[in-house]
Amino acid sequence: MKSRKWNFHFLLFLLIQFVPMEIVPATILDLNALRKLEKESFDRDAWPLFDLMAVLSFPDVVRLKAVEDHHMVGFVAGDPRPRDGWGWIATIAVDPRYRRRGIGRALLKACESKLGVPRSRLTVRMSNLGAIQLYEQDGYVSIDMWKSYYSDGEDAKVMEKEL
Ligand SMILES: CC(C)(COP(=O)(O)OP(=O)(O)OC[C@H]1O[C@@H](n2cnc3c(N)ncnc32)[C@H](O)[C@@H]1OP(=O)(O)O)[C@@H](O)C(=O)NCCC(=O)NCCS
Repeated sequence: MKSRKWNFHFLLFLLIQFVPMEIVPATILDLNALRKLEKESFDRDAWPLFDLMAVLSFPDVVRLKAVEDHHMVGFVAGDPRPRDGWGWIATIAVDPRYRRRGIGRALLKACESKLGVPRSRLTVRMSNLGAIQLYEQDGYVSIDMWKSYYSDGEDAKVMEKEL
């Protein structure tokens, strides 16, 4: 009896390991999950509630979530500006417990493919070396630096990729 129970838990463990991550559109129903993800990922840079509601509801915004085991484990939003010829990756974050598993890269690529513009741009804190490495690996190059862009005075690196 005991070993049958153990077998069941082992099977469950194996199943959870192989539950695939999927990337699907996010909606306003994801507001609470996104709020939590933002707080955990950005701390002082976390968007206020209004901005989160806007990103989940404004027309034309590309908003995608990574889902694993029925939970949002990552989010990306893109803002296409067809008249400028580029779109902005407005935010990207992965749940700290799910990082370094390729989810950030997959979200970025999925968002780029839905922007419908020739180039993609983004801003990143100069000190955010992990994110900068992700962007450089994905083909972004540095095109500008915006001085004191962030609330604490840190500069932003502006990066661009030909899509
Ligand atoms: C940046 C972020 C989205 C990356 O998500 P992720 O799912 O961990 O990224 P991936 O697993 O797809 O990483 C792809 C590659 O990017 C690079 N990378 C990602 N995070 C890194 C880190 N912390 N340090 C160094 N390199 C890193 C690596 O080269 C990695 O490939 P590898 O794991 O094979 O070495 C995630 O760390 C995060 O949410 N950070 C907090 C929010 C944030 O800073 N967002 C960006 C704002 S501009």
